[in-house]
Amino acid sequence: MTEPAPLQQVKRTYVRQRGRTLSYFGGCDYFRLGSHPAVLAAVREGLRRYGLNVAASRLTTGNHRLYELLEKKLARFFGVESALLASTGYLPNLMVAQALAGEFSHALIDERAHGSLVDAAQFLDCPIVKFKHRDASDLVRHVQRLGKHFRLIVLTDGMFSHDGSIAPLRVYLDALPANAVLLADDSHGAGVLGKNGRGTADHAGIATNRIIQTITLSKAFGVYGGAVLGTTALRKKIIARSPVVVGNTPLPLPLVNAALKSLEILGKDPDLRRRLADNTQSVKSALRQVGLPVEETPSPIVAIIPRRAGDVARLKNQLLAHRVFPSFICYPGGPKNGYFRFTISSEHSRRQLDDLANALTSG
Ligand SMILES: Cc1ncc(COP(=O)(O)O)c(C=O)c1O
Repeated sequence: MTEPAPLQQVKRTYVRQRGRTLSYFGGCDYFRLGSHPAVLAAVREGLRRYGLNVAASRLTTGNHRLYELLEKKLARFFGVESALLASTGYLPNLMVAQALAGEFSHALIDERAHGSLVDAAQFLDCPIVKFKHRDASDLVRHVQRLGKHFRLIVLTDGMFSHDGSIAPLRVYLDALPANAVLLADDSHGAGVLGKNGRGTADHAGIATNRIIQTITLSKAFGVYGGAVLGTTALRKKIIARSPVVVGNTPLPLPLVNAALKSLEILGKDPDLRRRLADNTQSVKSALRQVGLPVEETPSPIVAIIPRRAGDVARLKNQLLAHRVFPSFICYPGGPKNGYFRFTISSEHSRRQLDDLANALTSG
């Protein structure tokens, strides 16, 4: 991968590029809480009241009541027994795998799972088997081949970041033996999917006691950090066994204060999710009308994969002509030669949404 040019985000839904202000549909700040005035105020207030950094592991002298408060509120928001914070969204998968190392005969992982799940699988200390992307029948084939006597863990994203597709978690659970564990990285579904924003499991109607969920606070919540959502017993086991938890400085307290505010806003304001759903629906239906293939899901991600040489430059020009930043990216999990990825937010204006739809459907 190569390092792209720096980009300056401005006014919540725009970027500055070469002297122009362009609508921004990149990234994953689905509700633009990263620039919400109350969230920014919570960062300042957190800094004033608590300082920047505890500068110690939570397991030595770095614990703070704010961490425990955020965990309690996260557990309530997601309807799970307990939550354990991590200092980035990449780490929760590693923490779970470190805690469960040695407990499984095989790990089955979606071939397009996020890199943090791929890394986490290494800690499980068992053979790793890839199954076809979101393919329940391929998963079943592997499960049948391994037989009943094996103890399996399945690792998958909930909502996949490259195109917003959703893993069939319910089908996986129905197909797995009762003693199998499902670890779902719901970094993108959390806050977005499901009636109350509880994520992919909520969307699929799965009881949360049947899976371990990991989330980030840097996407729908607009802040930073991550968490494991599961049982109290799992939380205890991670604390007892994960070197990441032992040897890592926890989140800066101003960010914890900000995450508390984000959670409060998302919990209290159903309008945010309704706006996100409406905005997503309006762009996706415009694209469908001209025959563009878009995921039939409520996920606010639209992926456009250029088919022919020349399509990239042509679409970039179309987007620029409509004052839209051409978010053409290369990212693991996405097409090898790159693709256009657009994230619709609750905060884009009608005009911005129309500009995006017109740019993608013209020509
Ligand atoms: C599926 C998934 N898991 C984990 C992460 C890591 O989260 P963070 O960037 O907040 O560390 C990401 C972020 O890109 C992600 O897409």
